[in-house]
Amino acid sequence: MCGIVGYIGSKNCVPIILEGLRRLEYRGYDSAGIAVIRDDKFFIQKNAGKVADLAAALGKADGSLFSHVGMGHTRWATHGEPNDVNAHPHWDQKKQIALVHNGIIENYLAIKTKLLRDGHVFLGATDTEVLAHLIGVMFDECGDLATAVRLALSEVQGTYGIVVISPRDPQRIVAARRGSPLLIGVGDGENFVASDASAIVSHTRQVLYLDDGEIADVTCDHVRTMTIEDVDTQKTVHEVTLELSQIERGGFDHFMLKEIHEQPQTIHDAMRGRLLVDEGDVKLGGLQNTLGRLLSARRLILTACGTSWHAALVGEYMLEQIARIPTEVEYASEFRYRDPVINVDDVVLLISQSGETADTLSALRDAKSKGATVLGIVNVVGSSIARESHGGVYVHAGPEIGVASTKAFTSQLTVLALITILLARARGMARERGQVLARELASLPEKVDAVLSDTSTIQQIAREFKDARNFLYLGRGSNFPVALEGALKLKEISYIHAEGYPAAEMKHGPIALIDRNMPVVFIVPRDGIYEKVISNIQEVRARKGRIIAVANEDDSEIDKMAEFVIRVPHTYGFFGPILNIIPLQLLAYYMAVERGTNVDQPRNLAKSVTVE
Ligand code: F6R
Repeated sequence: MCGIVGYIGSKNCVPIILEGLRRLEYRGYDSAGIAVIRDDKFFIQKNAGKVADLAAALGKADGSLFSHVGMGHTRWATHGEPNDVNAHPHWDQKKQIALVHNGIIENYLAIKTKLLRDGHVFLGATDTEVLAHLIGVMFDECGDLATAVRLALSEVQGTYGIVVISPRDPQRIVAARRGSPLLIGVGDGENFVASDASAIVSHTRQVLYLDDGEIADVTCDHVRTMTIEDVDTQKTVHEVTLELSQIERGGFDHFMLKEIHEQPQTIHDAMRGRLLVDEGDVKLGGLQNTLGRLLSARRLILTACGTSWHAALVGEYMLEQIARIPTEVEYASEFRYRDPVINVDDVVLLISQSGETADTLSALRDAKSKGATVLGIVNVVGSSIARESHGGVYVHAGPEIGVASTKAFTSQLTVLALITILLARARGMARERGQVLARELASLPEKVDAVLSDTSTIQQIAREFKDARNFLYLGRGSNFPVALEGALKLKEISYIHAEGYPAAEMKHGPIALIDRNMPVVFIVPRDGIYEKVISNIQEVRARKGRIIAVANEDDSEIDKMAEFVIRVPHTYGFFGPILNIIPLQLLAYYMAVERGTNVDQPRNLAKSVTVE
């Protein structure tokens, strides 16, 4: 999704902004732009395409561009197609302010109609240009940039993270946030604004996170934050722990491959200091204050989007079958508009890698306003969901740069397994049983490592099926969500149509699709329903479907039925998904590589979906 970086200080802002934009590329975007102030005038360059195109255009326009204040943007189109005109920054009628914006201005048409009546001329089709004009009008009236932003925003409905600069007041940057993340990087005689810490972490680790409804008036040596009603707010400086190596590819061809291979470590990190193997128990500091409410909850509601929603589905199996707590799962995007019945004794768990997904954040606010306890299972430290929850658990997967989520998913599953053991023990599960589960969980990093150590079969399958137009993924029990996630990964990065289904449901419809051209991936570990899945495999075989099986190392039967077998070590049923998804991530990856798609930034997708 869109990215923002801004700078004010004594250095040349141009390379700082370009570097920041490159670090934000992973979020997914279709155009990029920069505005700087030089000799009390704007220099603005923007174009459809990549940051490299922007840098090349800048080089051609003015290779020696130098400025102390400026901002850049990567745009993921919402209103108006991705072209040079609609790219940010935008400016007002008199070109006295420039604006970059993440989010959506919902009432932009009403504002635009009024401005058109007053003679304003708009160059493009974006909601952002309308906001730029509105701020320009206010600036004309009051002559103070921060006040102009405040007044304009009080007329705006929607979501925004914005940065505004003006040659009439070149000593400041004004930033504001509602619903779209924004932080201020605090430097020595210089300050930064960014939508994501990765954009500025090579310059400073000291950051202030803006809250919703806050405005920041930033000069090179001072940051004032206030509400939209002009009341000063107090901020705490946080230290960002992100390492540069974590946001670089480090010898791998793609971030996605790097992140897939990080999983033995990230799964271990999710458990570290939390899983008490000898006691067969779990300690989660972030749930300490809400444990009572969790234990007395009438039901748990897990809500999330996309891959995180698949994690929630696996969580439902674990929580119901091991901890015996009634659990429901719902798409956050549906939850927020369904006006669900929420009671004060419900606990709502929000699962999100980014912690900024607009639908998930809205679901959190809705549940909270209805009196429920809301807990976050989040990767990004300090993100909105983490900050607005009553408590929660960080998954500690580190920055996930590949747009297709991989390591965050397995870390979310690991944390859900930890929560399950914690609740099960607190509700009376025997220590011995807890020890068995804890041991099994602790052994997973090594087993994931074993899957990753030989990917030759998976690469062979990718070569064989690279021209397939459809794929079916089938699994049962907690491997049904794995089928969904495997299919999603393939769709996202290879653009092959893929569907995940509960294996037994196949005969109620999708079986019509099976012919000699249909690859069908079965997740078939040797568990309590192994024989049932084998029957489903036979049904596909009888119709000449091509079978790829993810099966256990000790399963010799499967060779007789499947054209390809990907082996995974045996693990306890409920934790199986943490292992079984790994080959499916790799399959999607190698299929995409075979097809030559952009693995890390697939078309149309954004990393953190901060709009509805
Ligand atoms: C899929 C993917 C998306 C996200 C979804 C939710 O690979 O990355 O489906 O899982 O947009 O994002 P978070 O987890 O950040 O709330």
